[in-house]
Amino acid sequence: MPTARRVDPGQILEGRFLILEQIARGGMSTVFKAADLENSSQLVAVKVPLAQFSSGLGSWSMFQREAEIGMALDHPYILRFVALEPNKHRTHVVTEYVAGTTLAARVGKGRRLDESEALGIMSRLCEAVDYLHSRQIVHYDLKPENVMLCEDGSIRLIDFGLAHEVVKGRFPFSGQAFPMASLDYVAPEQLRRQRGRTSVDIYALGAMLYEMLTGHPPFEGDDPFVVASARQIGDPKAPRALYPGLSAQLEEVVLHALRRDPSLRYRTAAALKGDLDNPALVRVSGLAEHLVEVTRWRKALRMIRYIAIVGVAPIVFLVASFRLLWWYLERTP
Ligand SMILES: Nc1ncnc2c1ncn2[C@@H]1O[C@H](COP(=O)(O)OP(=O)(O)OP(=O)(O)O)[C@@H](O)[C@H]1O
Ligand SMILES: [Mg+2]
Repeated sequence: MPTARRVDPGQILEGRFLILEQIARGGMSTVFKAADLENSSQLVAVKVPLAQFSSGLGSWSMFQREAEIGMALDHPYILRFVALEPNKHRTHVVTEYVAGTTLAARVGKGRRLDESEALGIMSRLCEAVDYLHSRQIVHYDLKPENVMLCEDGSIRLIDFGLAHEVVKGRFPFSGQAFPMASLDYVAPEQLRRQRGRTSVDIYALGAMLYEMLTGHPPFEGDDPFVVASARQIGDPKAPRALYPGLSAQLEEVVLHALRRDPSLRYRTAAALKGDLDNPALVRVSGLAEHLVEVTRWRKALRMIRYIAIVGVAPIVFLVASFRLLWWYLERTP
């Protein structure tokens, strides 16, 4: 397992990629703008793991998987990876350079997009996600930071660091998807660590759509774990309560994508796109009138259930075991 070298501007990686400047520092990596000297100095992006992650087997394998998955993809709205010869010692990934900004820079903290722009972005995002799912790949980390709005008006879905193939089931580090994925967009079943499902990406699309249209993620609060668990016991506020200008049809679409039970959500990103492209045809079933509010009572009930499972159940089991042992010993001469 290789350890990543420190990368600085001026350095040439693999005798080919001249590092120009740092673009961003993500949760797990630093991304640099670079010039591909073997390809007319075309601009590329080089993603390198942060030092604290570079020596772990898990992160090395994540980068290998990200490169492998990324290089097999070919879609106009998905980041294009530079095809490189397989090399077990490579710890970075190289992709096209995207001139533009992230969706995260445009939405959230009360900032919303106008409806036609939001629908245009989301419709294209659905196309990209549907393409991924048709290839049995779940992205697992759909969030505004991972959607780039290009200067030419297109979009790119980026960051396949948590993506995995459902069929091959190659996702050996079982605990990672939950703590690393952003809690604002995480599906309730993802919190229960059920993985390998395309439904988690549909939920994240719904959460992003909610934020684009209202300016707020579906659940908010100071404590991320309280926010995360709220989605398991209740529904978000009706989008029209936050932005009354929204149509009832679009509200229905958002809430349909955010259903707590994955089997009640849109089955495919293509179905979600179908409704987004023709909102006037959406039948309003009244989801907004039947939302379950996350009250203190519900939180308390959940806590009681948790205590019952974690605290009381083992005691009952122990008492029952002793009774059984007692009964057995009494019967034995
Ligand atoms: N190809 C690219 N062109 C331009 N900017 C990019 C490119 N790839 C990534 N970035 C920028 O770098 C940021 C981090 O990239 P990326 O999401 O791939 O890294 P990460 O470490 O996996 O992030 P996180 O774990 O925080 O989601 C992006 O949000 C974006 O601003
Ligand atoms: Mg990212």
